[in-house]
Amino acid sequence: MSYKLGVIGFGNIAKAIITPILDQKLIKSNEVICLVNSQKSFENIKKFYKHNIDIFPVSSDKAHLVWNCPTKLLSIKPQQLENIEEINTKKNTDNILVSILAGISISKLEKKFPNHKCVRAVTNIPITIRNGLTAISWGDRINEDEKNFVKNLFKNSSKVFEFPEEYLDIFLALTSSSPAIIALIVEALSDGGLNGGLSKKLSEELVLDMILGTILLLKDSKITTSDLKNMVTSPGGTTISALRVLEEKSLRSALIEAIIAATKKSKEFS
Ligand SMILES: NC(=O)c1ccc[n+]([C@@H]2O[C@H](COP(=O)([O-])OP(=O)(O)OC[C@H]3O[C@@H](n4cnc5c(N)ncnc54)[C@H](OP(=O)(O)O)[C@@H]3O)[C@@H](O)[C@H]2O)c1
Repeated sequence: MSYKLGVIGFGNIAKAIITPILDQKLIKSNEVICLVNSQKSFENIKKFYKHNIDIFPVSSDKAHLVWNCPTKLLSIKPQQLENIEEINTKKNTDNILVSILAGISISKLEKKFPNHKCVRAVTNIPITIRNGLTAISWGDRINEDEKNFVKNLFKNSSKVFEFPEEYLDIFLALTSSSPAIIALIVEALSDGGLNGGLSKKLSEELVLDMILGTILLLKDSKITTSDLKNMVTSPGGTTISALRVLEEKSLRSALIEAIIAATKKSKEFS
């Protein structure tokens, strides 16, 4: 069997990337080979995963077959990278390795996988519901066909952007870290509703629908954020009272600083 795609680490994010491609038959299930670490994950995927892919635990004597694939998706946790050893079975230095590991630079990948042309992708958790954002930075020697193949891996589950690697840290801060900031805002606003006497469940439902509605309004009517702010802020009214408190507490500055801190940490890792 000649596999087209090898997936090293078939966890949450890899499944989110690969499943829509298999669903749409853009790649056949017998063209994909996946590796996991544990016997337990292997058995779970064999039993419950909806596509009949070839999957092996790393301890299997078939595991080395992944290294024959022309394209590999590396989707383990960054701290598991030290357990991976490149096997150059076909002495093919034209193979592509796409890493989605947070904070692992292209130069680190090239040192670890010297026989591969390396690609670094940063994606975010909404990819698990096919609403992700993915930025890709290319290593050397990658041609247009190869770029298209890699972009197509992500296109069914996310919007795809191409950036020089230096921008991946800010992209990660804005798109991968910020879902946690949004979750925190939802939680805090819901606590405000709770404090006003609503149940936690209802408060959270109202906040989520308010955020969804606001975002749709911003996107659909193409108004700016300041237009929207002005639309709901009347002189001496409730909204300006709320905004004044946020200015006093420096919320804007706190959010900017949060993005700067996440960017800095990402740079330190890579
Ligand atoms: N979670 C996020 O929000 C997010 C967003 C964007 C990008 N990422 C990046 O995506 C990557 C994967 O994250 P995830 O959430 O999908 O992790 P995950 O669910 O823990 O999946 C990791 C996978 O790697 C396998 N694995 C571990 N060691 C291995 C080895 N030596 N050989 C082969 N397979 C091995 C694991 O197998 P077992 O199950 O058997 O241990 C598991 O299938 C991370 O590097 C992260 O930085 C994550």
